[in-house]
Amino acid sequence: MDYANILVEVQGRVGLIRLNRPKALNALNDDLMNELGQALLNFDADDAIGCIVLTGSEKAFAAGADITLMANYSYMDAYKGDYITRNWETIRRIRKPVIAAVAGYALGGGCELAMMCDFIIAADNAKFGQPEIKLGIIPGAGGTQRLPRAVSKAKAMDLCLTARMMDAAEAERAGLVSRIVAADKLLDEAMDAATVIAGMSLPIVMMVKESVNRAYETTLSEGVQFERRQFHATFATEDQKEGMRAFLEKRPPNFTHK
Ligand code: CAA
Repeated sequence: MDYANILVEVQGRVGLIRLNRPKALNALNDDLMNELGQALLNFDADDAIGCIVLTGSEKAFAAGADITLMANYSYMDAYKGDYITRNWETIRRIRKPVIAAVAGYALGGGCELAMMCDFIIAADNAKFGQPEIKLGIIPGAGGTQRLPRAVSKAKAMDLCLTARMMDAAEAERAGLVSRIVAADKLLDEAMDAATVIAGMSLPIVMMVKESVNRAYETTLSEGVQFERRQFHATFATEDQKEGMRAFLEKRPPNFTHK
């Protein structure tokens, strides 16, 4: 499939999506988000793919929603048309893990998009922020909700109210990113992590993702109960038999993803 705003490729069992509007620092418009949604859905439906990596350029993961589009919106454009954010939720329907590999700016909607992924690997030049307040708006794609869950209320308030940027080291200390690597190693590191995940049993990977995400949506006792049921269900898979047999036979597992 041909895309105008993203580049898509497959390496082994990993699907790689690069945001590709370099002149606008990957500002996120409806066309880009539609293409991204379609590419994600295609990878999710493809049995040959076990994990997805989403990245931008070395200068910008994404500098936010496209301000040139929003500048003249009326309330009715925003509310009735639900422009800018209406097609952003596709990523939440993806059942396979999506890793954000973030270099450079991840601002506004760019930071929000990275936070919608399952985890973030950051280059040492990454900068995160929610600067919408400087534009006279507030974050509109989950920034005020996901950021406090990721980095605490204090830091989320600080970032959303002052519009300051947080560098990669601060983001790692705060728990927003899982690891930091040199900018020129970012894609290799993210692809290596994705390859490890894609080598695991796909149904088990999906159960892990579903269970961890449940921690954000429910009480501890409900979440633990959900996890227990998923744990029980793992014993219905061929890959559980293979994984445990391989351990006992002192060899690597050969998962069939069933
Ligand atoms: N939308 C549209 N265009 C953007 C953009 C955006 N979010 N961010 C950058 N660009 C464009 C610039 O207008 C510029 O275009 P021209 O060359 O045609 O002038 C080009 O990208 C390069 O940008 P700069 O010249 O500004 O590059 P810089 O290195 O000097 O600064 C930056 C980089 C600090 C990221 C700066 O571009 C910036 O502050 N961008 C805006 C960040 C922002 O406010 N993001 C939030 C958007 S609102 C949002 O996301 C709402 C939501 O929650 C859904």
